[in-house]
Amino acid sequence: MNSPTAKTKVAIIGATGYTAIELIKILLRHPHVEIVAATTRQEDAPSISSIHPSLTGRLNLNCELLDPAAIAAKADVAFACLPHVASMESIPLLLAEGLKVIDLSADYRLIDPDIYEQWYGHVHTDPTRLGTIVYGLPELYRKQIPNQNLIANPGCYTSTAILGITPLLCSGFLSPKGIIIDGKSGVSGAGRTPKLGTLFAECNESLTAYSVGNHRHTPEIDQVLSDISGTETEVVFTPHLIPMDRGLLCSIYAPAIKETTEQELMQVYRDYYQGDHFIRIVDHLPRTKDVAHTNFCDITVRLSRGTIQIFSALDNLIKGASGVAVQNFNLMCGYNETTGLTDLY
Ligand SMILES: NC(=O)c1ccc[n+]([C@@H]2O[C@H](COP(=O)([O-])OP(=O)(O)OC[C@H]3O[C@@H](n4cnc5c(N)ncnc54)[C@H](OP(=O)(O)O)[C@@H]3O)[C@@H](O)[C@H]2O)c1
Repeated sequence: MNSPTAKTKVAIIGATGYTAIELIKILLRHPHVEIVAATTRQEDAPSISSIHPSLTGRLNLNCELLDPAAIAAKADVAFACLPHVASMESIPLLLAEGLKVIDLSADYRLIDPDIYEQWYGHVHTDPTRLGTIVYGLPELYRKQIPNQNLIANPGCYTSTAILGITPLLCSGFLSPKGIIIDGKSGVSGAGRTPKLGTLFAECNESLTAYSVGNHRHTPEIDQVLSDISGTETEVVFTPHLIPMDRGLLCSIYAPAIKETTEQELMQVYRDYYQGDHFIRIVDHLPRTKDVAHTNFCDITVRLSRGTIQIFSALDNLIKGASGVAVQNFNLMCGYNETTGLTDLY
C-alpha cells in the first residue's frame, strides 16, 4: 500500500488524443499523482495546452518524443493512449525500463495471438506476453489487478456489454450462444485521428451500423464472458455510429432460458454489483446523458414476452477508457479504487 501522501509520477504516452485529454483531467484531480511527461510524434515539443486548449493554466508541460529510458527516468507509471500496433511496439520497451503500464489499446486484451491476427490484421509482435496479462475490468478482475506491471484496459463497447451481460449469464438466465448486442457509440469512440467516416458532414444527421460481423470487440466480449461464466460464449454484436460527441449505449437481447420475473432479474444485478461504486442498477432506462463525463455505468433490465432486454450505458471516454484506467492505476498502486474518480461531473 502506498503512503497516503506519496505522489506517483505518471507519463501519458500518446498525449494528443481524446482518451489522453480525459485522463489528464482526471489525474489533475488525483491527490496522489503528478503528471511528469506527455508524448507525441510531433518533433517541435508542443505545449500540452497548445494541443488541448482546455488545459491552459492547468498543466504546464511540453510534449516530448517517446524515449522509454527518458520517460522511466522521471515516471513510475505510463498510461499508453496509443492505437493498437503502436502500443505493442512501445510497451515492451517501457516495461523493460521498469515502468508499470496501463495500455488503453487492444494489443494485450486477447489471449490468443492467432485471434489477434485474425481480427486486427497484424501479426502480434509480443505474443509470449499474451495470456499472462490481467484484463482491467475491476468489477470482474479486481483481485488480480494489484501488483501487476501491465494491465490491458478494456474496450468501450466491451465494458458496456460485458457489465450488462455477466450477472445474468453467470446466474444461468441466458444461453451462452446467440446473445444479441446492439451497440451505439458517439463519434469520439473513433479517436481524434481524422477519418473519412467521422467527418462532420459524413456522420452528422445520420445513423448507420458499421463493422457488421467483424467488429474487433467481438472476440474480446466472447473471451471475457467465456472466462467469467466458465462456458464458451458467442455473441452477435452490431455497432452503430451516433452523431453525438460521446456516450455509449448497448441494448442487449436474449431469450430467458428459465422462468423469471423482472424483479428477480433486477435483484440479480443488485446482488452482483453490491459494493461496486461505479455500477448503478437503475429502475429507469439508462441514458448516455446521465453518465456523460462520469465513471458510472448505468444498467437496467426488462422482460418482454420471454425475452430479456438489458440496457447498459456509459461514457466511452471515461468508464469506457480513461476512468477505468484510473481505477486500474489506483488498484495497481495501492490507492483507494475510487480516488480521483468521484464527483467528476
Ligand atoms: N476513443 C475511445 O472512446 C476509446 C475507448 C476505449 C479505448 N480506446 C483506445 O485507446 C487508444 C487511444 O484512443 P484515442 O481515442 O485517444 O485515440 P486518438 O484520439 O486517435 O489518439 C491517438 C494518440 O496516439 C498517437 N498516435 C497515433 N498513431 C500513432 C502511431 N502510429 N505511433 C505512435 N503514436 C501514434 C497520437 O499522437 P500524435 O499523432 O501526436 O503522435 C495520439 O496522441 C486506442 O487504442 C483506442 O482504441 C479509445
